[in-house]
Amino acid sequence: MPVLEADGISVRFGGVQAVRDVSVHVGEWEVVGIIGPNGAGKTTLFNVLTGFQRPNTGRVRFEGDDITGEPVHRRAALGMGRTFQNVGLVKAATVLDNLLTAQHMAVGYGAVAGIVGSSLAFERERAVRDEAARLLELLGLLPVADLVAGRLPYGLRKQVELATVLATHPKVLLLDEPTSGMGPEEAEAFGERLLALRRELGLSVLMIEHHVPLVAAVCDYVYCMNFGELLVEGKPDDVRSHPEVVRAYLGDEAA
Ligand SMILES: Nc1ncnc2c1ncn2[C@@H]1O[C@H](COP(=O)(O)OP(=O)(O)OP(=O)(O)O)[C@@H](O)[C@H]1O
Ligand SMILES: [Mg+2]
Repeated sequence: MPVLEADGISVRFGGVQAVRDVSVHVGEWEVVGIIGPNGAGKTTLFNVLTGFQRPNTGRVRFEGDDITGEPVHRRAALGMGRTFQNVGLVKAATVLDNLLTAQHMAVGYGAVAGIVGSSLAFERERAVRDEAARLLELLGLLPVADLVAGRLPYGLRKQVELATVLATHPKVLLLDEPTSGMGPEEAEAFGERLLALRRELGLSVLMIEHHVPLVAAVCDYVYCMNFGELLVEGKPDDVRSHPEVVRAYLGDEAA
C-alpha cells in the first residue's frame, strides 16, 4: 500500500490551470522526486498533498485513508512532515533549542509534570535530548548545536529546519527544493544524508528538486511536470533522458 497517494488532482487559479489531472504515489521507504520547469505546478501539487490548497478535483490518501478534506495540522499529526522554502525556525534561539521545542510540541509535553519536576519528566527530558543529539548527528549539525539559528548560512538553516521536522516523527517527508541555496558539493552531501535518514528512521520521501544529479542519485522514482500536467514518470535515468523532458527544460531548439 502506498504511504501517500494523490489521484487525479486538478487546481485552477482563475484563468490558470496550475495542476491538471495529476496522480502520484509514494511507497513505503521510497524516495520520489518531482521535477519540472518553473511554474510547472510542483508547489501547488505539494500544497494539495499537505492541505494548504484544496483541489478542484481528485483525492489524497495517506496510508489508504482519504484525507482530501483534512486540515494541515491533522495531516501533520498523522505523520506528514513538510519543510518550507522560507525556513520556519525561531531565529533567536540556538539550533538545539529549536529542535527541543519541535520535539516538545510533537510529544505534547506534560506541563504540570515539568513544573513539579517529577522523575518521569526528567526521564522524558533526557530521552528528548538524546533524540535531539541523534538527529543533529545524522544531519551533521552537532558542531553548530549551540549557535543561534538565525545567524547560520542559508544552507545550514535549511538543514536545521529539516531536523526540526524530523523531530516530529513523520512517516513521510515532503521537501520543496531542499537544496536551493546550496552549492553542488553541499547538495551531494545532502543527498547522502537523506539516504542515511531513510535507513535510520524508516522514512518515505517526496521531494521537489531542481538539481538533476541529486535526483538521479537518490530517487527511486521520478515525476516530471510541465504546464500543470504530468509529462513523464519512471526511473530517474529514463526520465532524465526522455525527449519530452529534455525539450521541456531546454526549449524546442534542443529537440
Ligand atoms: N495562489 C496562487 N494564485 C494564483 N496563481 C498561482 C498561485 N499559486 C501558483 N499560481 C500559478 O500556478 C502555476 C504553478 O505554480 P507553482 O508555484 O505550483 O509552480 P512550481 O512548479 O512550483 O514552480 P517553481 O519551480 O518556480 O517553484 C504558476 O503559473 C503560478 O503562477
Ligand atoms: Mg515551487
